Amino acid sequence: MPEFEQWDIVTGVGLTALGVAAGRALETERADRLVSDPWADAFLAEADAPVPVPRRRADVARLSAVARDMWTSMADYLGVRSQFFDRFLMTAAVGGITQVVVPAAGLDARAFRLEWPPGVELFEIDQARVLEFKDGVLDRLGTRPRCGRHLVPVDLRDDWPAALRDAGFDPGRATAWLAEGLLPFLPAAAERLFFDRISRLSAPGSRLAAEHLAPSVRPLVEDPAFRAATRALGVDLADLWHFDGKADPGGALTADGWDVRSVPAHQVAAAYRRELHGVMGRTVEHSRFLTAER
Ligand SMILES: C[S@@+](CC[C@H](N)C(=O)[O-])C[C@H]1O[C@@H](n2cnc3c(N)ncnc32)[C@H](O)[C@@H]1O
Repeated sequence: MPEFEQWDIVTGVGLTALGVAAGRALETERADRLVSDPWADAFLAEADAPVPVPRRRADVARLSAVARDMWTSMADYLGVRSQFFDRFLMTAAVGGITQVVVPAAGLDARAFRLEWPPGVELFEIDQARVLEFKDGVLDRLGTRPRCGRHLVPVDLRDDWPAALRDAGFDPGRATAWLAEGLLPFLPAAAERLFFDRISRLSAPGSRLAAEHLAPSVRPLVEDPAFRAATRALGVDLADLWHFDGKADPGGALTADGWDVRSVPAHQVAAAYRRELHGVMGRTVEHSRFLTAER
């Protein structure tokens, strides 16, 4: 028996990967899109979700007012978040970093949708059943990655550095790390260990990007209206997110020799001429995007 609770793409934490894929699918339909992710719709088409997950903006219009607000504001935010981290990874790769690791990759299709320079090797870490679903869909589409791609099916509370090495990761090479849509799911001790392990695996020249949701969001997340809204995603995020004992990871990263920058998500949105409204807009008033170099 696996030591940690397992989920697939339509249960528990796994369902959140489908939710953010829906956000990207909806954003992809916009003329002024900040991300173009045609694979998101392919994943949604094959997943048998327990709640209506919209694939098109027309589907959103048919949902309840609460669900409409959730999906619309989610898509707006996902556009901003995707664009910011796409730019981070492309800057790192064009700057010569050829090893990329995406912990909690979920249905992230960056290996397929970004134009990587030659020589890039990208590692996707997530639970086994999430990666199995993803690869099944991509195989049936016959789509090919635009970089070397390695799957690492392991729980992030387990010995994932060993699994990453077994998959071909080289700690002697500079790496670009991306933790997007992950940190709230990790309890405080697991989050500290996560960054500690990344620091130990990061050669000089490595870079790191992470989305950080501050514990100040807690009253909002525990509000009954917010909990009702997240049920449109098929989960109760208040049950899945952890805030107890958490500090801004920037402090520990700085102590570990990283040069850290942090920008509020709303400031990034404004730079992209996108206003964040609705339930996700209020949530990500507590969200910052961290980038760091070593
Ligand atoms: C909100 S999704 C984000 C997925 C992806 N980063 C994106 O932005 O599209 C959260 C992902 O974190 C993964 N995840 C959360 N906790 C995990 C853990 N302990 N081990 C492995 N994966 C985990 C889930 O399986 C899911 O795919």
